[in-house]
Amino acid sequence: MTRIAIIVGTKGRGSNMRAIIEACRMGRLSATVVVVIAPKPYTPAVDAAEALGAKVEVLENFDADLGRVLSENSIDLVCLAGYMRLIPADVVREYEGRMLNIHPALLPKFGGKGMWGLKVHEAVIDAGEKESGCTVHFVSEKYDEGSILLQLKCPVEPYDTPESLAARVLPLEHQCYVEAIKKWQER
Ligand code: GRF
Repeated sequence: MTRIAIIVGTKGRGSNMRAIIEACRMGRLSATVVVVIAPKPYTPAVDAAEALGAKVEVLENFDADLGRVLSENSIDLVCLAGYMRLIPADVVREYEGRMLNIHPALLPKFGGKGMWGLKVHEAVIDAGEKESGCTVHFVSEKYDEGSILLQLKCPVEPYDTPESLAARVLPLEHQCYVEAIKKWQER
């Protein structure tokens, strides 16, 4: 049974977190979400984790405490879901090959610092792309640059707005994260 920690951010809704927790609970993943880690209390993602009855650790000294909390919980796999900042380099190195992130576009395009939320979908539309989707990739010491584990694609329609494209990509993210974790387990 893979022991997963999910790291959420201050801006996300926690929907990818929920998709992973539900897949574990329904037996679609042979894994268990041991802890949800957040940098701030009272955020939508923390509320969502608590509503699901998940164990939540709020780390106000996030960078200093992250490594300790992961090792105390004997974590096999770390899943970033809406956490927008860089993970400290020592933790990235310790969990090399065992730390994933999801991005709402087809990396290596449309990633990097500041590329999150509707800005990503706006950039995809402005570039005239016919296709978008999402990417689960390994976390490295730079934004959105680790090797790609899985991508799922969807069309970009001529009438799309950033909002309508985001709404098409989001359910794909939920599916992609669960499939990527399975793929990681089978490696
Ligand atoms: C998702 O779009 C994910 O790709 C990005 O942040 C967003 C988090 O959404 N990294 P949610 O909190 O999982 O709903």
